[in-house]
Amino acid sequence: MFPWALRYLPGPHQEIFRYQEVLRGFIRHEIFRHKLRIPEAPKDFISCYLTQITKAVDDPVSTFNEENLIQVVIDLFLGGTDTTATTLHWALIYMVQHRAIQDRVQQELDAVLGTAPAVCYEDRERLPYTRAVLHEVQRLSSVVAVGAVRQCVTSTHVCGYYVPKGTIILPNLASVLHDPEHWETPRQFNPSHFLDKDGNFVVNEAFLPFSAGHRVCPGDQLARMELFLMFATLLRTFRFQVPEGSQGLRLEYVFGGTLQPEPQEICAVPRLKSSSSGPREEGL
Ligand code: HEM
Repeated sequence: MFPWALRYLPGPHQEIFRYQEVLRGFIRHEIFRHKLRIPEAPKDFISCYLTQITKAVDDPVSTFNEENLIQVVIDLFLGGTDTTATTLHWALIYMVQHRAIQDRVQQELDAVLGTAPAVCYEDRERLPYTRAVLHEVQRLSSVVAVGAVRQCVTSTHVCGYYVPKGTIILPNLASVLHDPEHWETPRQFNPSHFLDKDGNFVVNEAFLPFSAGHRVCPGDQLARMELFLMFATLLRTFRFQVPEGSQGLRLEYVFGGTLQPEPQEICAVPRLKSSSSGPREEGL
């Protein structure tokens, strides 16, 4: 209720503010380095943003300024690291748990990609099963179970309910991803949720791990690309299994902003001798 009060209360959380300052200093330095560069066509996010600041310098209502740039860079790192890494952790855990599904993904990858040196994003069109499995990982793990906190800018009605201006909104994404009205087996890992009877990949409108609407995750496409390339490359190269003498998998989640799996050991056993493992550049 009073988030600002945390700054003044003693305790271990004060470390967060110290780290925050270190991070801001690092980004500030990076912006400074960009400004020193010889003018050239903007190549990355910071240089594009700096160009925008210059263009909007006479606009009194412009929000393009260096403080906002720092915050946007922080937002991109915050939004883009833990989410994707956690989804991949779950993907490996589910593959170990469902060995037959792992086998089928590997069969599809072998049959379609053959000896191609690496996976590229376009390949997903020819890999419906692998794609369905990855979607099912995102659906069941629901790593961002509750979307970002939003505030209603105007009074409105939703499904017959009056929502006054200023209402705080917490979108319960997990409720959609596990909704029994939209998924045949909502609590079970089932790639058929994304396959038709002929084995073609099908979209399901309740697949909303990135939320929806104007404030949908801006990293949606990047995340899909990263997940597909990493997952397909890993499964092509390794067989994942529990180590000998293991007590078995732990499938309960730990809440740490995202829903994370418990720390546990999984073995990656090399399965191909010759092919290289990186994604092909032209596919990015
Ligand atoms: C599996 C990966 C990811 C998932 C599941 C995910 C999910 C989400 C969700 C549910 C939101 C809240 C949307 C809303 O409020 O309606 C969000 C916001 C956001 N995401 Fe992602 N995300 C992922 C990857 C990424 C990546 C790779 C980036 C950037 C590199 C990114 C950057 C952001 C940012 C900056 C926001 C805040 C946007 C705003 O405030 O309008 N995310 N994400």
